[in-house]
Amino acid sequence: MQALTVTKWLQMKKDGIPISMVTAYDYPSARLAEEAGVDAILVGDSLGNVVLGYDTTLPVTLDDIIYHARAARRGAPDTFIVADLPFMTYRLGAESTLRNAGRLMQETGVQAVKLEGGADIAHEVSALTAAGIPVMGHIGLLPQSIHQIGGYKVQGKLEADIRRLIDDAKALEEAGAFAIVLELVTDGAAEAVTRALKIPTIGIGAGAACDGQVLVYHDMIRYASPYRSKKFVKTYADVGTTIRDAIGAYVRDVKARTFPGAEHSFPGASEIAAQLYG
Ligand code: KIV
Ligand code: NA
Repeated sequence: MQALTVTKWLQMKKDGIPISMVTAYDYPSARLAEEAGVDAILVGDSLGNVVLGYDTTLPVTLDDIIYHARAARRGAPDTFIVADLPFMTYRLGAESTLRNAGRLMQETGVQAVKLEGGADIAHEVSALTAAGIPVMGHIGLLPQSIHQIGGYKVQGKLEADIRRLIDDAKALEEAGAFAIVLELVTDGAAEAVTRALKIPTIGIGAGAACDGQVLVYHDMIRYASPYRSKKFVKTYADVGTTIRDAIGAYVRDVKARTFPGAEHSFPGASEIAAQLYG
């Protein structure tokens, strides 16, 4: 399968072909996502929650994202990978945003970066796209602003809010973004934004009208995800239970001395052992 390019994202929207995206943060997760045929991988700063065990995404650093994106790249060499710019690695002016995004692209080999925000960061998005760095936008619920929002609340309920989402999305499109994530918004808001744009919308908790969907790896396979009941997550497997049961069986085998068996061992040299200690 040939990896997506920025122009293919536009073409898929035009052709009405849904875009599938999943997060991945290391070699095995990225490898399995690529083997499963996902259209694109996101090395999201959600790794702060699901891999590093933080309560929010705010502590995630650029070095964290680079470390994980390099591993994901090795696992999925043929898949379009987007990496998040973490909290405060942008918004401090176009120059430092460019420097950080440039490092992220150069040191990891990902094809694009993602930033949270709308019209307020359009000038930084313009600077990135002018420098040849593909940008994915992200509007709706912005986890990097969680202390200001005050909780994981559904966005885009009132007409004024929906108008603001559309304006933000258009500002990002005009600034050169190739796609926009819509996080935790009403179906109506997602539909309105999706219709207002030429570039595709990728939804998470944003209903079926989006041009594509993204889910967090650990959520969709129940891999010790810290979030128990996100309504918008569909659980496709329960690997957490599988892994816990497997490790539990191993612990019981070791305690019962039923592991390792003869089939896991290397016979020989027992005479020498007997000579030395028998
Ligand atoms: O970090 C992440 O996983 C994301 C998705 C929720 C879109 O930004
Ligand atoms: Na993110």
